[in-house]
Amino acid sequence: MSAIDLQRAGQPLLVETFAEWREAARELLVHDVPPALVTWSTPSAGGDLFSAAPPAAGQTHNPVEMPPAASDKPRHAPPSIPRSLMDMLQSAACCRVPDRWAFLYRVIWRWQQGQHDVQSPADEDGARLHAMVKAVRREEHDMHAYIRFRERPLEAGPPRFVAWYEPQHDVLPQVAEHFVSRMGKVSWMIATPEASVLWDGQTLHNTGPLVKNSEDLEDTGEALWLTYYRSVFNPARLNQSVMQQHIPSHRWKNLPEGKIVTHMISEAARGARKVGQYEAVGQRKGTTIPIAPEDAQPERQQPSKLDECRRCELWQFATQGVPGEGPKKARIMFVGEQPGDQEDLAGQPFVGPAGKLLDQVCEKAGVDRDSIYVTNAVKHFKWEPKGKRRIHKTPAQKEIEACHYWLEKELAHVQPDVIVALGATALKSVMRTANVTLKNSIGHPVFHEGRWVVTTYHPSYVLRVPSEEAKREAFRTMVESLKLAHDLLNRQPEEPPASSLDS
Ligand code: URA
Repeated sequence: MSAIDLQRAGQPLLVETFAEWREAARELLVHDVPPALVTWSTPSAGGDLFSAAPPAAGQTHNPVEMPPAASDKPRHAPPSIPRSLMDMLQSAACCRVPDRWAFLYRVIWRWQQGQHDVQSPADEDGARLHAMVKAVRREEHDMHAYIRFRERPLEAGPPRFVAWYEPQHDVLPQVAEHFVSRMGKVSWMIATPEASVLWDGQTLHNTGPLVKNSEDLEDTGEALWLTYYRSVFNPARLNQSVMQQHIPSHRWKNLPEGKIVTHMISEAARGARKVGQYEAVGQRKGTTIPIAPEDAQPERQQPSKLDECRRCELWQFATQGVPGEGPKKARIMFVGEQPGDQEDLAGQPFVGPAGKLLDQVCEKAGVDRDSIYVTNAVKHFKWEPKGKRRIHKTPAQKEIEACHYWLEKELAHVQPDVIVALGATALKSVMRTANVTLKNSIGHPVFHEGRWVVTTYHPSYVLRVPSEEAKREAFRTMVESLKLAHDLLNRQPEEPPASSLDS
């Protein structure tokens, strides 16, 4: 029966997969059926029914009176939904919340009604959608990171590797794809309480649950894994709170090393930490700089993709990482602070009001903005809620430092001759110290790490400053700074630049 017929008959739409939901939603949308009239059901919910208003206990669902538009003739053309929204809906569909299908339908219905802010985190539904997507992405990431395959004896036949995991969301299919590309032709199986996937070296097979718990899986590979884990465990690097943040305790129970980690932590606290470091340092050649073991830094992740970055906490609250943009070999690089609300949604730097002001500065200085590489010191939007809005929050020094990793990559690729630091955060990032001030740096370019650094105001300052005169003055300073940056392109470090900003 079609979605419309089922609804007419008062029967819920039984949906298990995103593809099924999409087909039903499409049919409902072309017949103009509002979310309040649709009742969704999911097999895994044990027959629970969800709609905008679920029936009270003991009630059955009455046949639904469809709006006149839901006659047999479609009322609308099939909806055209942007790829970005469809991707979000598909991710959110993996989030284990009981009303997921009803919620997704409300979102898509509102979009179709022209309420495009439903995709924005400032909207109530949009915020929930973003939170669901984030939860699912986090679960995918965790599953990539914390799955442990155990090897089975060759004579036991395939699969050669088995893993048990208890995901909190329905991410097994996409995680399985990830391991297909990582594990080559060897056969493996991932078992979860709800489903299992088996890779035979060529094809993925999806099945229902095959085992009840991790004990059911072959344990042959475990001893080997524990030996390996012990050998790579470096007590000198141990930072227990970071480790616990990275591997929440509820994950440890399914990690083979979970059984020995507590023991190793207490060993480390009792002195193995010192010993571990002395040994490692002692084996190195050349000068050694003594560092107290307790000051040793935890090793940060070195991701290759911005959206996989977990070097600080900001990724959790942003829609996406915003990389720099501009010609590959630009000679001038603008470094701003961090993406704003609009940049966070668009995934591009300086596309909001601050970007418009930057355009005006470039025009006035006679420098083609398209010739400049534009980026930020921090690549994720840091914000706090204020009513429905997301208000910018200044990044902390540790976040600036964590993100310097990306700025370094951009500098290495673009190799600009001059950096224009827009505001204090950019200045601290570029100079790699918190001991610099905007006031002392504006009008005083420095030659730093092989290139000129010119400091100026951040465009948001010009937009915010209340007095008209101060606004004009700050704008003028920005224009002069950019002209100076342009002049420096052809100047050697020995030649002191003439600055017209000193007066
Ligand atoms: N402010 C910044 O510093 N960067 C942007 O990309 C936008 C606003």
